[in-house]
Amino acid sequence: MKLSVVNFGCQMNKLDAALVTSALKEAGFSVIEDMWQADVVLINTCSVRQHAEERVLSLLGNLKHIKESRGEIVVGVIGCMAQRLGEQLLEHKAVNFVCGPAQIPQIERLVTDALQEKRICSITKDIRHSEPANPELEDFESVYDSDDKAIPSQAYVRAMRGCNNFCSYCIVPYVRGPEVSREPKAIIEQIKRLAGEGVKQVTLLGQAVNKYEYTAGDKIYCLADLLEMASAVNGVEWIRFVTNYPKDKYFERICRAMADLPKVCNYLHMPAQSGSDKILEAMNRHYTAEQYLGLLQKARDIVPEIAVAGDFIVGFPEETEKDFQDTVELVKKAGYKNCFIFKYSPRPGTSADTKMVDTVPVEVKKKRNNELLAVQVKISDQLSKEFLGKTVTVLVEGLSKKPHLDAENNDDNPQLVGRTAEDWIVVFNGPENLAGNFVKVKITKTRPLTLFGKIKT
Ligand code: 5AD
Ligand code: SF4
Repeated sequence: MKLSVVNFGCQMNKLDAALVTSALKEAGFSVIEDMWQADVVLINTCSVRQHAEERVLSLLGNLKHIKESRGEIVVGVIGCMAQRLGEQLLEHKAVNFVCGPAQIPQIERLVTDALQEKRICSITKDIRHSEPANPELEDFESVYDSDDKAIPSQAYVRAMRGCNNFCSYCIVPYVRGPEVSREPKAIIEQIKRLAGEGVKQVTLLGQAVNKYEYTAGDKIYCLADLLEMASAVNGVEWIRFVTNYPKDKYFERICRAMADLPKVCNYLHMPAQSGSDKILEAMNRHYTAEQYLGLLQKARDIVPEIAVAGDFIVGFPEETEKDFQDTVELVKKAGYKNCFIFKYSPRPGTSADTKMVDTVPVEVKKKRNNELLAVQVKISDQLSKEFLGKTVTVLVEGLSKKPHLDAENNDDNPQLVGRTAEDWIVVFNGPENLAGNFVKVKITKTRPLTLFGKIKT
């Protein structure tokens, strides 16, 4: 039986897709890239913006046509959209089953049932009103591989599930349930196993990973403890953690862990979302722009070489031009390596959707998005130029997906892409079998988000 898994969304979803793929591989499925040739297609979905859901619906439309012509294929929808829409999705002619993120341990049974009996079913539990501990998921997580199939020698490891923040725009707490920190022992065992399989870079995941907290007896473990324990694992060379909520508790300890532990990458992804205090309050973010910048300053005082990335939402309800300019100001002051900018998208059931009106017209959202991006590109351009002539260490990801025509073609090898510990993307020529290895690259040319160079031998 041929299986194809299509993934949408964030790293948390990539991790779930890797676990599900690994479980079904072990059950005898062969995994193929081309979903049009598959007997079973699993779509791991994202609900964070309407656009992400629209892409899934359009894919389901195509799969419906394949089903009508070939008949026998099984289509399962998993992930956040499966949790949000549940049985509603079964009304779609392409869909055989729906499975929420907390039920992925049952994936093999669901697929087998669907293949044998062509059963149509949906399993999603009432995630916010049930027991947050999920021993079945915990077991599933520790048994199956979570390495990123697209990037050799890199793996995701969940530190926490769920989210309790309830930012007014966000669907995640509704689809991923309450926050649960995993036991440090389980996390470290998993990292040891991955290191034994050749994994060199581990990324600890949580919606607000810096809120990680686990009590065992009279000891309370925080993310800084986890970083220290993970650092002690032989074979692991680089450790990352995403995403951070701008919060004081543990922040200094985490930054100190970054400064003191050589394996912990000097990279902080900490979304601000807006630079206007009025909008931050309406977003239920519990900090002001000044407090946010104060945290960044603290991080830079402790880790001077730190690279920082952010997320912003433009066009939140009632965002005026003045509010937007406050965001522009914050971006100018923050000195991000890069930032991810999104146009506000109302999500059904969130408080921004039920209690506020989506007042900002789509053209204004687009204009603000472009303007903010242009401000950031200038900053990224300046920061990237500082690398000219310097040599950086890069973990090679593999062949560059689309060739960079403006790269300096310094040999006959193909173009490779990798990242520095600070998460800068580096493009250079080299043999393909370097994927998954560390190399040194001398930077000869830069673009705002990309460094180009030559391998040093
Ligand atoms: N509309 C637009 N962007 C959103 N994000 C989360 N919810 C929404 C929404 N409703 C953005 C935030 C978050 C990132 C993952 O997605 O910036 O940090
Ligand atoms: Fe990830 Fe959020 Fe999308 Fe869910 S909704 S897949 S948590 S980005």
